[in-house]
Amino acid sequence: MRVAMIGTGYVGLVTGVCFSDFGHEVTCVDIDADKVAMLNRGEVPIFEPGLDALMATNTEAGRLHFTTDLTSAVKNADAVFIGVGTPSRRGDGYADLQFVYGAAEQIADALDGYTVVVLKSTVPVGTNREVLRRIKARRPDAECDVASNPEFLREGAAIEDFMRPDRVVVGSESDRAREVMRELYRPLSLRETPIVNTTLESAELIKYAANAFLAIKIGFINEVADLCENVGADVQDVAKGIGLDGRIGSKFLHPGPGYGGSCFPKDTLALARTAEEAGAPTRLVEAVVQINDARKRKMATKIVDACGGSVSGKRIGVLGVTFKPNTDDMRDSPSLVILPRLLDLGAEVTAYDPQGRREGEEMMPGVKWADGPYDVCQEADALVLLTEWNEFRALDLRRIADMMRTSVLVDLRNVYRPHEAARAGLAYTSIGRKPSAPS
Ligand code: UGA
Repeated sequence: MRVAMIGTGYVGLVTGVCFSDFGHEVTCVDIDADKVAMLNRGEVPIFEPGLDALMATNTEAGRLHFTTDLTSAVKNADAVFIGVGTPSRRGDGYADLQFVYGAAEQIADALDGYTVVVLKSTVPVGTNREVLRRIKARRPDAECDVASNPEFLREGAAIEDFMRPDRVVVGSESDRAREVMRELYRPLSLRETPIVNTTLESAELIKYAANAFLAIKIGFINEVADLCENVGADVQDVAKGIGLDGRIGSKFLHPGPGYGGSCFPKDTLALARTAEEAGAPTRLVEAVVQINDARKRKMATKIVDACGGSVSGKRIGVLGVTFKPNTDDMRDSPSLVILPRLLDLGAEVTAYDPQGRREGEEMMPGVKWADGPYDVCQEADALVLLTEWNEFRALDLRRIADMMRTSVLVDLRNVYRPHEAARAGLAYTSIGRKPSAPS
């Protein structure tokens, strides 16, 4: 099949590269000529494990192309995917659809022969139908259908998620379009991946409901963690004890400093707005938005408390600033709330992150940067583990304790066990567990 992918952002690029690996002929289109030139040189503009190798193999095989020429890419395609951004509109939290509609209009002008226009971008309920309406209004003669095909890729594990999905959701009201989609995802039939065929609206809502549910799960375990701290329970045990119930499931029950990233914060807000507007408010989703915002601020207070009530004049080392490991993405990362707050309170903050420094430097002026995990510990009064990168999981805690001025470890991802930190000589504070003193 011939595929055109409009937009080479995170979703567009991963999806385009993975479809080419399925054996389809893929042309990725972007208006940014510099980015297209970069992609044509084989350079990957985002950090996603495995993407560079997959891109190189498929470019070499002649199945993957990058261009700014939307018209010829669309003309030749059986399916045109829209994978452009839908940022939160400033002020009101609604998804901003100008890029989606802009792409739809350009596609309409270029359509030639039967084509399925597929929305990959996360869009509010009703958008697919509106895209179809706009295309038909502009090109009443066009032979095309619209399909909603939401993505469920996690940054850092996106290729695995694409190649081995739990399910593929296809919203469409046309048998012909469904057939094209089935053909595109045929390689997954070997793994018996369920394809969930729905209406346009249901597919749109599945995406938001999935992200909101996961966000609620995280918000819930974070509140339970706070409760554990107050009643002397251990959240790791509680999460395990509830997660083994098949109805609950153990995934997304890791307490932490609050969720971040380009999806949960934006999608929960957008769903809450849509639901309000549709007269069926989602109070649970509204609550988790507030709970998560408050959580990031609360983490700064937790660090201050671990430092004895004040961080003024103290040196704080920070491990990890990205919103999660295996990404360079800083969007809505808890670090963006926590680190500036510590600086405001008079702390001297030095951070290390395997991928986040470039953006972190821009977004958090005043933070100093180190070249490795041990460098941030030098003469520090507290060490804060904020993102659970693999390289932070087996640090030499005794060496760290020896390097620090005051041996305080605040582990906001529960990477270490209280007794091992205590044995290494660290005063240890984590999430939803009793703090431990050096033993
Ligand atoms: C999320 C979803 O997991 C994907 O299925 C979806 O496709 C994607 O959004 C999207 O809409 O595009 P992503 O934002 O890449 O993926 O990251 P997650 O791995 O879901 O993590 C999100 C945040 O939740 C991170 O800040 C992470 O640290 C936090 N988290 C996750 C927890 O605090 N606890 C957990 O148990 C799990």
